Amino acid sequence: MITQESIDALKAQLDVVDVVGSYVELRKAGANFKAPCPFHDEKTASFVVSPAKQIYHCFGCGAGGDSIKFTMEYEKLNYPEAIEKLADTYNFTLSYTDKKNNKPRSQVMDKVNEYYQNLLTSRIEATKYLSERGIYESSVEKFGIGYAPDSQSTMNYITSHMFTLKEAVDMGVVGYEGDRYYSRFIERITFPIHSANGALVGFGGRTISGHQAKYVNSPETPFFNKSRLLYAYHHAKQTLHKTKEIIITEGYLDVIMLHQAGFNNAVATLGTALTPEHLPLLRKGEPRVIMAYDGDKAGRAAALKASKLLSAGGFSGGVVIFEGGLDPADMVKDGRVDELAGMFRSPKPFIEFVLDEIISLYDLKDPKAKEACMQDAIGYLKTLSPILQEEYKSYLASRLSISPSFVRIAGQTNTSQTNTPVMQTSSHRDMWELSLIKTLLEKPHMLTQVLDVLDPSILQFHQNEFSLLISNQTNHPNIMAISVDDSIKAIQSEDELQNELNTFLSKHYNRELKKINMRQDIEFEQKAFEIRKLRGIIAKLK
Ligand code: CTP
Ligand code: MN
Repeated sequence: MITQESIDALKAQLDVVDVVGSYVELRKAGANFKAPCPFHDEKTASFVVSPAKQIYHCFGCGAGGDSIKFTMEYEKLNYPEAIEKLADTYNFTLSYTDKKNNKPRSQVMDKVNEYYQNLLTSRIEATKYLSERGIYESSVEKFGIGYAPDSQSTMNYITSHMFTLKEAVDMGVVGYEGDRYYSRFIERITFPIHSANGALVGFGGRTISGHQAKYVNSPETPFFNKSRLLYAYHHAKQTLHKTKEIIITEGYLDVIMLHQAGFNNAVATLGTALTPEHLPLLRKGEPRVIMAYDGDKAGRAAALKASKLLSAGGFSGGVVIFEGGLDPADMVKDGRVDELAGMFRSPKPFIEFVLDEIISLYDLKDPKAKEACMQDAIGYLKTLSPILQEEYKSYLASRLSISPSFVRIAGQTNTSQTNTPVMQTSSHRDMWELSLIKTLLEKPHMLTQVLDVLDPSILQFHQNEFSLLISNQTNHPNIMAISVDDSIKAIQSEDELQNELNTFLSKHYNRELKKINMRQDIEFEQKAFEIRKLRGIIAKLK
């Protein structure tokens, strides 16, 4: 029998996009991938693969599962056969309980990392560069900084330590092209990159001799996914669980210098934007998120994108922009640590930052541009919860110097045609409504059961998300946020769903009943009629 450990280790290395993508032609659609469903006959693309959730799902036929399930269904294999097929494809050595075949994942990357680290001490130009950047020896050690020599030396090292170049290719240390092996990192300072658990998964390499690419990173492998990893997260995680705050920067050196200055909760994206796939990791420990980005055009644009994503995902925190060509690393080097601490203490909240950035894109002296600006800003506000929308309408209005009544958000909850008083509440995350949405994301066939009894407009907090769901916008950040949030639990069975719906509806109609009773603007008879009707509905729900 295959050991559970090795099944788990294999699963951790599998990427559903890769697995499904090797059979089906996937098209990128936002954060997800789409294709016509391979399990039923169709021309439209109802088949969605979510890299963030590591699942596939067909909204047409309801087929769905993870990489293993897909392989079972597609290849018509049983569970162990599918595992073996995948292990074979991804060059993963399974272990069996009879211990006949027990070989662990190749250690070649760890070994090469040791080599690079040892080599650094003898490379004067590299150590000189690091010390000029202000990096202490203790940081070199903590972050395992090393030096990759010329291509041939690395490969000689690998083969003389009983590893094959083939396994070095699989681990992303060596490349192979046109019958030729070459080291991926040549004459570069190396920054080992670890998973959240601290396993070495790749490298970043910075040139100090003016190679055309300032940085190169490991290639994507089953265990190195740039859109999901955060540099130094394994170092930062203890602190961020304590301080409930994480600082995200743009560069490896920023992280190293911030840690050196005592900001042990700093991490960085790996030369990519923050993606929805980062969100599950970021949610761990529920820290406030501080984005520390450069004030140049690229930095501001990246901060804007990240702020939209994080605010729609319900994260709190904000943005700190570094002006004047400085970055956090420079400031630490210049000894401006108190100033940095001050900046991190008062970031600009995400929503304000996004609105301000949008506003800065338009010339408000031109009324037409002002109008377009408002539409743009409203488009963004719609991704937020109704309470936040309401809250920031007045902020937007004041920034545009217009009356708040001009800021109209279509489809918002609070249009009370029925003259019922609007329920105001302070909480915008309603777990029941979120759970309902998650249930329908995971089990779309239950949608008719829900729509049979529930008019979506009676949802109090998450109407927006519900309409995104029914319009199939599963890659919208709000929906992705729900789908990746493990604290939101899906309802398991149809019976359970029916009970939940009845309880919810009965609460809703009881509230309506109270409201009707308080109304003074309707005739006695009409009121009696409404009350009878509501009581009838409530009785049926019991
Ligand atoms: N980066 C990358 N590839 C590049 C350039 C940058 O992957 N060709 C990533 C790296 O992760 C790097 C980050 O982007 O840490 C920030 O790099 P950048 O802003 O270009 O430069 P600096 O911050 O000035 O880099 P350094 O501090 O190393 O000079
Ligand atoms: Mn820098």
